[in-house]
Amino acid sequence: MTTHFYTASSLDGFIATRDHSLEWLFRQDFDMEGPMAYPAFVDGIGALVMGSSTYEWLLKNQETWEYAQPTWVFTHRKLSLPDGANVSLVHGDVHEAFPRIAASAKEKDIWVVGGGDVAGQFADAELLDEVWVQYAPVTLGAGQPLLPRSLQLELVATARNRDFVCTRYRVTRADRTERGAPTT
Ligand SMILES: NC(=O)c1ccc[n+]([C@@H]2O[C@H](COP(=O)([O-])OP(=O)(O)OC[C@H]3O[C@@H](n4cnc5c(N)ncnc54)[C@H](OP(=O)(O)O)[C@@H]3O)[C@@H](O)[C@H]2O)c1
Repeated sequence: MTTHFYTASSLDGFIATRDHSLEWLFRQDFDMEGPMAYPAFVDGIGALVMGSSTYEWLLKNQETWEYAQPTWVFTHRKLSLPDGANVSLVHGDVHEAFPRIAASAKEKDIWVVGGGDVAGQFADAELLDEVWVQYAPVTLGAGQPLLPRSLQLELVATARNRDFVCTRYRVTRADRTERGAPTT
């Protein structure tokens, strides 16, 4: 089981504007059947994780809840839940919530949808394995940050998908022993 942060970003590292707009993203061209596209990625996903801003954006901008997989929303608030959807509200340490999230994924992978700080909390807890970023050819100057942490990543794949440069990275953990890294 792998935990992925899969997201689109502006070239200057923002996943939404300051006021949570994604208009800049949806005006770009992307081939849903092309490399590193969402439909193939989501096939391997057993559970979704997101912060409350991302959840509220989805509630506001989708006609119906799109995800069949269990979805875990981190929030300190009592947010409304879509009818019939498998959505659970959680709060606090991601490490504590992780066993329930992992069990709900039933051996499939976990998708940290966003935002960047929630992905960062998974990285802090050494629970983030991969980061996939589709870079749009746009700069925003300011906004919600992609991944506000200091992390070493290893580039494992790149591709062009129409307007986007698609990248896939593995998170390099401090305790990693590959490539002859010291074990002490
Ligand atoms: N470009 C893309 O592909 C893409 C992908 C995903 C998201 N987005 C957008 O990016 C923006 C991200 O917004 P954001 O940076 O504000 O992040 P967010 O992670 O969506 O929401 C952050 C909020 O989640 C709650 N939260 C986070 N960690 C928590 C924890 N451990 N325990 C309890 N609550 C916790 C807190 O709010 P409360 O406790 O007050 O609820 C926090 O303010 C959204 O507009 C989203 O739509 C874009």
